[in-house]
Amino acid sequence: MGLTVVPCTPVIGAEISGADLTRTDPQEYQAIRELLVRHQVLFFRDQPRLEPGAQVAWARQFGGLHSHPAAPTMPGHPEIFVIRADANSKVANGHGWHSDVSCDEEPPMATMLQIHHVPESGGGDTLFNNMFAAFETLSEPMQRFLCGLSAHHESEHIYRGRYSDRGVDDAGRTYPACLHPVVRTHEEADKQALFVNPSFTTRIEGLAANESRALLNMLFEHQQRPEFQVRFRWTPNAVALWDNRSTQHFALWDYWPATREGHRVTIAGTRPVHRELPLCRRKMRLSRKAL
Ligand code: SIN
Repeated sequence: MGLTVVPCTPVIGAEISGADLTRTDPQEYQAIRELLVRHQVLFFRDQPRLEPGAQVAWARQFGGLHSHPAAPTMPGHPEIFVIRADANSKVANGHGWHSDVSCDEEPPMATMLQIHHVPESGGGDTLFNNMFAAFETLSEPMQRFLCGLSAHHESEHIYRGRYSDRGVDDAGRTYPACLHPVVRTHEEADKQALFVNPSFTTRIEGLAANESRALLNMLFEHQQRPEFQVRFRWTPNAVALWDNRSTQHFALWDYWPATREGHRVTIAGTRPVHRELPLCRRKMRLSRKAL
């Protein structure tokens, strides 16, 4: 059975049908990998509920798996991160723009999430944005300036005590922090992506504090433009697969006190690098009005 690919917007995301993720053959898997690089986030609806072992096995076809530095693991399946928010939650995972665990020296390349339980109230959508488009719509002088910069990604402020309600005692634990290029070269797409995000990126190396803050604020506002986004409305057992090297996402927590639950697996990545490429400007008509 062939895959049917329907792009969600001209800028990011595609819905894929004709795939059963419990039995993806190597040829289909290779096609999915290429589609991921092209569309940056793929959505598969109408999937069977994947057993933890089956989800892990599917994700492993991409390579090794990434271990989360803070979240509790699932008994018997340490690769699975249970995503859950309900009436008792004080915080919900991913409620803010980020690229997964960008504070790690080698942040995950991709993430696969299956949501089993969608809030009865509706809501709980996930938004994704395109960091190639964000970079390519900046002016050439700004692109050039950013290409020479690195930024600090930290996680202490996010993870300390974050999972205490799930029994994690993190006394004595240290959380990752790393310096990454502000513009990351995507090795498979051979394109540049803006690689700063408001959750983990705290400052630009070498700039004064006020310069760093002003520049980051400008970049965060720019990269969150709706023109670069797709918003996915979950249905039970739908799967999203996203490329953390070229996207960010925001899991909306607009459904409290309802419950949303699923399983996430992250695929290991490599240390982000910046390689010089000819500058590329994307032709998009962006509103110049303040957002
Ligand atoms: C996350 O990985 O940030 C959670 C995404 C989601 O729950 O939609």
